[in-house]
Amino acid sequence: MSTNTTSTYSDFHLQFISGEWQTGKDDSTNTNTNPYNGDTLVEIQQATKDQLNEAYDAATQAQEAWAKQTPAERAAVLYKVVNILDQRKEEIVDWLIKESGSTRIKAMVEFGATRAITLEAATFPNRVHGEIRPSNTPGKENFIYREPIGIVAVISPWNFPLHLTQRSIAPALALGNAVVLKPASDTPVTGGLLLAKVFEEAGLPKGLLNVVVGSGSEIGDAIVEHKAPSLVSFTGSTSVGKHIGELANGGEYIKQVALELGGNSPFVVLKDADIEQAVKAAAFGKFLHQGQICIAINRVIVEDEIYDDFVERFLAHVKTLNVGDPNKQDTAVGPIINEKQVKSLKEKIAKAQEEGAKMILSGEIEGQVVPPHIFTEVTREMDLSRNEVFGPLVGIIRAKDEDDALSIANDSMYGLSSAVFTADMQKGLRFARGIRAGMTHINDISVNDESNTPFGGEKNSGIGRFNGEWVLEEFTRTHWISMQNEPREYPF
Ligand code: TAP
Repeated sequence: MSTNTTSTYSDFHLQFISGEWQTGKDDSTNTNTNPYNGDTLVEIQQATKDQLNEAYDAATQAQEAWAKQTPAERAAVLYKVVNILDQRKEEIVDWLIKESGSTRIKAMVEFGATRAITLEAATFPNRVHGEIRPSNTPGKENFIYREPIGIVAVISPWNFPLHLTQRSIAPALALGNAVVLKPASDTPVTGGLLLAKVFEEAGLPKGLLNVVVGSGSEIGDAIVEHKAPSLVSFTGSTSVGKHIGELANGGEYIKQVALELGGNSPFVVLKDADIEQAVKAAAFGKFLHQGQICIAINRVIVEDEIYDDFVERFLAHVKTLNVGDPNKQDTAVGPIINEKQVKSLKEKIAKAQEEGAKMILSGEIEGQVVPPHIFTEVTREMDLSRNEVFGPLVGIIRAKDEDDALSIANDSMYGLSSAVFTADMQKGLRFARGIRAGMTHINDISVNDESNTPFGGEKNSGIGRFNGEWVLEEFTRTHWISMQNEPREYPF
């Protein structure tokens, strides 16, 4: 709920560098538009590489003092951020709808996840701890310290911009680091500038959070190659992630990378499953945010015996979904983020038909709104199965039996999330453990993220884990310090 005393944030046309709002100095402009109606939301003069350097300088200067603040002081800022998020919930949800094309339902989900990770991060300053290990050297004591990693570069995507940005910056800051953030060009406000306003209002000292708005192809490499960051936290496509991994380890300065990349989540329905429940789950896990989620259901795999029944009921259910204006309370499927993505979906629709998939549901594409498309008799070789769709198209694959279903589920270069439906929990657990993925949900959708459980993938889905103690480790460094308490005898 907005309070009467809080005026809404404005001036989103500026960069946030060194704790100051300043005009971008590049010649190019980011015209930020509403993907549903094309309205211009804000025009942002983009940042130059000099401004990026300024951001890194500011972060470097501010970080040391921040790391020395007491855990309670750092935690207090994070708790204030939670309060401000709560006060400004309506304003934030409104921005998520108009900038990222989030339906109201998705915007609420995203707000909740953002709030949860901020609250989790607020506990980190007091949870970080070291160890004492025995030594085989007489008179030696081994201490293992866990220290802030220093400067964290964050590059975030447009699909869950608020949450996927905050999932990096809140833990990074809580653990005594400073951040230079580049939000996606489609969502500079919800992916960065809005959070900068929130942290500024919460009293975060200047220079600790810098938001540099610029195109990935222009300033992306410079962000990664700069000597200041010790860690690059990237969330986005596998192709850009691979490039970042190469840059981070092949340039002058080696740095750690946390890569959260693409997915191709299987959703398996075994023959003993509650079909009605599986149908509802499949629809929500596929069409939430128009399928533009890295952990969205990408392949529905159904055992032969119940395939036709599942398809019939799924089709009937998906036909009831409301498509269109994301701001309406009951809209399930809103707009696609940009025209480039719409074009890629049109190509996928054509390719699926060329490859022999049967299109049993389609609809008129109006502007950037693509209605649900369902394809049956999809095989594991088809493009719909092999590649990430990132849109409201779904292929349903027929599996001969449980073993075949598992083999299809694992037949992917990705391994992010996954799901299996069955009435037999032991069977579900056995099946889940057979899947090579970072996350598997039994009798639920692949779209799950909890701030205290490890989020991340295997194979081409990335390196590293978010949330809880997993991110706490990623955003700190380990330092072994030994103390030789008595003169040691050396062989020469
Ligand atoms: P990308 O094109 O990879 O963009 C992600 C971010 O990288 C954006 O901020 C982008 O900036 C930036 N970028 C682009 N080129 C860069 C370069 N050469 N150097 C450094 N940064 C660069 O992905 P997207 O289209 O936004 O998102 C879709 C993909 O991300 C999907 O594959 C999806 O699965 C994946 N994704 C994964 C996850 C997780 S958690 N695994 C979450 C969300 C999305 P610009 O916007 O300025 O180009």
